[in-house]
This record gives sequence, structure tokens and C-alpha cells, in this order.
Amino acid sequence: MGIQLKSIVPWGRNAEEYQRMFDLHLVDRSSKILDCGGGPASFNAEMTEQGYSIVSCDPLYQFSAAEIEQRVEATWRSLLTKIEANRSSYVWDDRIASPQQLGQVRLAAMRRFIQDLSIGLSENRYVVAELPNLPFADDRFDLALCSHLLLTYSDLLPIEFHLQSIEELLRIAKQVRIFPILNASGARSIHLETVLNSFRAKLQIVPYEFQIGGNQMLVIDR
Ligand SMILES: C[S@@+](CC[C@H](N)C(=O)[O-])C[C@H]1O[C@@H](n2cnc3c(N)ncnc32)[C@H](O)[C@@H]1O
Repeated sequence: MGIQLKSIVPWGRNAEEYQRMFDLHLVDRSSKILDCGGGPASFNAEMTEQGYSIVSCDPLYQFSAAEIEQRVEATWRSLLTKIEANRSSYVWDDRIASPQQLGQVRLAAMRRFIQDLSIGLSENRYVVAELPNLPFADDRFDLALCSHLLLTYSDLLPIEFHLQSIEELLRIAKQVRIFPILNASGARSIHLETVLNSFRAKLQIVPYEFQIGGNQMLVIDR
């Protein structure tokens, strides 16, 4: 039994984690990518620096850098305490060897994001927006990524929200990838079967596993 979350937490991963979660090694620099629910991840900052075309959207971006930093710092201690109490639900390896190191990796990602936020907002790489309605034109992106929001928060977000959100992502992107397919407690999302049956969707194993058994992404084609 993993952790229980009562709200959606601002917790950000880095580009190396995104590349493994979404198996991005075949994605080239000309692809237009949306990171939906990007939060304080450093994916956009790091990938932009490498010449990729990334837009991130999240309601979190309405807040100032100082407010976001404060929210992340306020959240991470209690989250780490929960993870520490459930250590056996996670894979600890040389990349992330302990809850303490996890905290450092997440804070480093958030700080990289914070440094990039002001310039990224001015370049429209960070957009204040929330599912299920996004302010992007039809077909604007090749790929929409959604990490640790849809399916992860299945206990808080109902199936109707999931179906509407995926339809919206398919309106603006040719393909949608969602990771992981487990909820925050580490159980398979209760919405997964319905989603699989409602779209052209398949599961794919990826080279990333932090929640035990959480090494599959959901790939949905328009
Ligand atoms: C757990 S964080 C994940 C951040 C990032 N994707 C990652 O994996 O590192 C979840 C994010 O989803 C955002 N969020 C919550 N509701 C949302 C919605 N309706 N549409 C888009 N983003 C939302 C939150 O603000 C938060 O930043």
C-alpha cells in the first residue's frame, strides 16, 4: 500500500526522467511537444536548452516564482515523510537511492524551472491553462505528454474528467502519452480500462520505474 494524496501536489521531475518515462529517445528536435500539467518540472527548461520545441501548461503558472517556490517547499517535506514511511513501495537505485536524495533531485528540478519561468512565460513556453479546456489551436502539437496528473489522481479526478481531457489533448496533438498508469498509492488506475476501451490506446513498457510496477505508459493515437 503506497501513499494517499488528498490534493494534487506541485512536484517536478527532470528531463532525464521525462525521457525515460515517455521513451522520448526517438523524438526529434522538430517535434512540437506539449507538457500538460508540467508543474515545477525542469523538462521544458532543459529540453529548450537542447533545442527542442516544448510548451508546458499548468494552472500553477499563474503564481509568481516566489509563490511557486514556497508551495513546493511547503509540500515536499510532508510528501517525503509519507514516502519514507512507505519506502518499500518504491524502487531505490543509484539514480535515486533514498527519500533524502529524492527530495534533493525534486528540489533541483524545481529550482531549474524557477530560473527559467520568467523568460519561458515571455516566450509563451509556459502557459496558464488547465484541463479539460486548453487554449491551443487544433493540431498545434505532434505529441502531448501528461506526467503524474491523469490516471495518477484517479481517486480525485472522475472518469468524465479523464475522457474529456484526453479528447481535448487529442484535438491539439496527434498522440498523447500518459505516465504512469498507477495511482499515487501504486495501484492500477480505476479509469484505465475505460480509457483503453474509449480510444485508440495501448500500453507500452518504458525504461523508468520508481513506483514498484509503474513502468508502463499509456499511448493514445488520434
Ligand atoms: C504532481 S505534479 C506533476 C508535475 C510534472 N508533470 C511532473 O511529473 O514532474 C501535477 C501538476 O498538475 C497540475 N494540475 C492540476 N490540475 C490540473 C489541470 N486540470 N490541468 C492541468 N494541470 C493541472 C498541478 O498544478 C501540478 O503542477
